[in-house]
Amino acid sequence: DISQAAADTGIPAFLVGGIVRDLFLNHPNDDIDIVVEGNGILFLEHLYQQFGGDIKTHEQFATGTWRHPSGQMIDVTSARLEYYSHPASLPDVEKSTLKEDLYRRDFTINSMALSLNNQYFGRLVDPFNGQNDLRRKRIKVLHNLSFIDDPTRILRAVRFEMRFNFQMDRQTETLVLHSIGRIKDLSRDRLNGQMKRLLNEGSPSKIILRLFELNFWKQLGINEHSQKKSVTHSEKLEDVYRQYEGLQAGWFIYFIIPFYHSDVLYTAKQYAVTKKSKKLIQDIYTLSDNTEWKSISNVGMMHSYLKDISEEAVLFIISSENVHNEKAIMTYLKRRKNMPSLLTGEDLIKQGLTPSPEFKKIIMNLDAAVLNEEIQTKDD
Ligand code: CTP
Repeated sequence: DISQAAADTGIPAFLVGGIVRDLFLNHPNDDIDIVVEGNGILFLEHLYQQFGGDIKTHEQFATGTWRHPSGQMIDVTSARLEYYSHPASLPDVEKSTLKEDLYRRDFTINSMALSLNNQYFGRLVDPFNGQNDLRRKRIKVLHNLSFIDDPTRILRAVRFEMRFNFQMDRQTETLVLHSIGRIKDLSRDRLNGQMKRLLNEGSPSKIILRLFELNFWKQLGINEHSQKKSVTHSEKLEDVYRQYEGLQAGWFIYFIIPFYHSDVLYTAKQYAVTKKSKKLIQDIYTLSDNTEWKSISNVGMMHSYLKDISEEAVLFIISSENVHNEKAIMTYLKRRKNMPSLLTGEDLIKQGLTPSPEFKKIIMNLDAAVLNEEIQTKDD
């Protein structure tokens, strides 16, 4: 359909970016990005009229999205618009416009295009030799200012290293080390967004280590001497999560590890957006302030210390140090998760009792008995 639209409108169209890279890598990718050398809005309207579906356009950027009748989303952007003022010099300008669009991109492997134009259908446009870097498993920027233009690309580079098991070439790594200070210019939301995508991409301990090598953590006020502890901690946490069924680690728990080992966990609060991540930091402080819970082996008794603490926070601490009652703690967390609430304060009031501090004790003792499996619940 895209080809047909290109032929009908006389607007050349190309498949670009991540999907081209992934086609060559045989990697799944559903994000179809098209660049047209001409008016993207006209192109989208034509697609809609000829083939149906639905379109959304952003006039000021001359971009938009076409929802193909099959449901597939297709993003269309326009290469340089100057094109319109020089229709006479078409062939040359045509080439240079796509090339200029590709030149504004991050890495050579992401700067390839496939022609969708009838006569040249399937022809590769690869002005920066992305093919070669795909073969050599290299992440390589197109020019020296790439990370200055957009510091999130530093984290993208690490993400692609992890995802494909590629490596930055020497020049790119040197540029990262030179521009890493720009990380501080990123807004919290942009940094969080990139860290989330990165830490969800591969082994968090490997990512944390790589970011130490690139002096990333230093920009966030973290001491480089915390590297070893942070990496060991994150390795153990990965292990603990692997054993702990039914709980998926969020990115944030790994993100705060270097802060914790640099004694600047309080500064990580500024990156905590969700309730869950705020509570995680708070709970880690609570667990560090009162350490009695680490010497209790009775699962029921543990409840009085840990009942309001999230399981994430407990897993965080037990993977950072050798806690001798680790087994009991894991048993506690598992039983707590499945524990029915047998009795609440309200139940006692309904029984005609007057609210008193004794309530808490009664409930706590009952919960402890359930956790120690002294009481069989109906579910059992
Ligand atoms: N791009 C860029 N600089 C950025 C972000 C994106 O040059 N900071 C370009 C790259 O050419 C990239 C394309 O925009 O291939 C699409 O971006 P995005 O969808 O974020 O990345 P993908 O490469 O498709 O990666 P993913 O598979 O993770 O979606």
